[in-house]
Amino acid sequence: MTPIQETIINKKTTNKPIWLMRQAGRYLPEFKEIRKLNPDFINLCLNEDLSSKITLQPLKRFKLDAAIIFSDILMVPYGLNQKIKFKKNFGPELGPLNLEKISNVDEADFLNKLHPIYKSIKKVKENILTNNKDVIGFIGAPWTLLVYMINKHSPKKELIRDFFKDKFLINKILIILEKFLKIHIEQQIKNGATTIQIFDSWAGLLDEKDLPNYVYIPTLNLVNYVKSLNVPVICFPRGPDVISIDYDIDPILISKEIQIPVQGGLNPKVLLTNKENLKKEVLKYLDIFKDHPYIFNLGHGVVPETDPMKVDYLVKLVNDY
Ligand code: CP3
Repeated sequence: MTPIQETIINKKTTNKPIWLMRQAGRYLPEFKEIRKLNPDFINLCLNEDLSSKITLQPLKRFKLDAAIIFSDILMVPYGLNQKIKFKKNFGPELGPLNLEKISNVDEADFLNKLHPIYKSIKKVKENILTNNKDVIGFIGAPWTLLVYMINKHSPKKELIRDFFKDKFLINKILIILEKFLKIHIEQQIKNGATTIQIFDSWAGLLDEKDLPNYVYIPTLNLVNYVKSLNVPVICFPRGPDVISIDYDIDPILISKEIQIPVQGGLNPKVLLTNKENLKKEVLKYLDIFKDHPYIFNLGHGVVPETDPMKVDYLVKLVNDY
């Protein structure tokens, strides 16, 4: 069993496995080198040689317990034929949402577009660097993907005014997303993903009353699907094997109220502060979750300004705890 499986399945509390969201990314010079030569982010995700290489970069440097596949949650809208570009210093920008075009995509079209991702996972899984480690596959939750597909770019603090105008469109898209997200999960697992994380970055934009319809129910359907394939699922907040927390949540409260394994929490900005403060904050999480099955991670992705030496220090602190 891998260290992460020991935590998730056996509820072991004595080891503290670690991986980091965005562990492969712009804070690593070896990533930036590849990125410079590959300005098109989508094409990079679809290059199985490079994306597998990037995925393994942080494992060469640090003693991490998992690889997370270098891809993006927005590859699913791409697979559904919505145009998408990643603009420098702006983020993703999606093209028009054409329901007819999306409705006409069948499984073969989708797999044809995304198959390099699955090949990349296979390469990562077969590499010696992931021996006795997990390979984490992921999807965006239907709600978060819907936000991007309709809003066309990252929302700032709120949704565009007419977001809910076309309920027919929204319901159709959610049904299509559920179908293709299941296919995407299945393919990732078939090719070597040993755990699935569901990212739902924009649940906070909804009123409480809308959460069941747009967040809880669609995500729970996918959680249950992953479980039916006998693979652990990490997400927030309903029904997973591991609950993933960010830094807006009080970890003490979580450690008291949540029985299942917990992942994450540390604010990635702490990696931009000095070593003493970093140590204090890391130990805070480790101490709070001392007797809890806990996977060390951040509350969000590593930010590009991070010094890789700080990441090294962090990983060592956790490994030596
Ligand atoms: O964690 C990992 O290392 C795995 C790969 C991964 C990426 N994106 C690579 C990426 C994962 C798991 C994601 C998830 C993702 N993507 C989410 C959910 C988690 C979160 O961050 O809230 C969301 C909302 C996206 C959409 C997305 N992709 C945005 C908004 C952006 C631009 C802003 C940013 O963070 O850079 C991306 C681009 C992106 N995805 C990059 C990477 C490494 C940066 C690409 C680059 O310019 O080099």
